[in-house]
Amino acid sequence: MIEQQIKAAIRDIPDFPKPGIIFKDITPILKDPVLCENINSAFTEKVKDMGIDAVAGVESRGFLFGLSLATKLGVPFIPVRKAGKLPYSVNQKVYELEYGTATIEIHTDAFQKGDRILIHDDLLATGGTVTATSELIKEMGGEVAGFSFVVGLSFLKGREKIEPISDDIIILAD
Ligand code: PRP
Ligand code: MG
Repeated sequence: MIEQQIKAAIRDIPDFPKPGIIFKDITPILKDPVLCENINSAFTEKVKDMGIDAVAGVESRGFLFGLSLATKLGVPFIPVRKAGKLPYSVNQKVYELEYGTATIEIHTDAFQKGDRILIHDDLLATGGTVTATSELIKEMGGEVAGFSFVVGLSFLKGREKIEPISDDIIILAD
């Protein structure tokens, strides 16, 4: 039900941001408050018994549902940001992209050692972003409780990449 609602709302944009790429535009979901609430409820129901201490959301689209999920669960939200955006002291992770590298950062006081953290993003493609996030969280002494995504692009095999990190992978529309 929720899967069909999400799939119906997502808009495919051909050749964005580069020729040959079909961009999955989630902005129509954001125009529908009932669907947003259904997404929040679906995530909350699926993760509520996982013993989650905090939700880490990846800039920028991982902030959209990540904060509402954390708020519904009554736990802190951890912004995982691109380099140079967080004002306090940070830990960072450099990871490989198709061409070049990217850097993500988390505030050094974002969570306590041993905290069980759910990593959230809007979309799972190759899994590179959330794998780097999980490595950074573990280097900082956190435990990766699982992953949650609104959408998965199964042909890019992101699930296979993150399965060794945690069995708890929630993808509402795969
Ligand atoms: C997109 C998407 C995920 C990531 C998925 O973010 O929101 O964060 O790519 O790709 P991966 O699984 O191959 O790592 P993008 O970098 O486009 O930035 P944005 O969220 O700021 O729009
Ligand atoms: Mg993103």
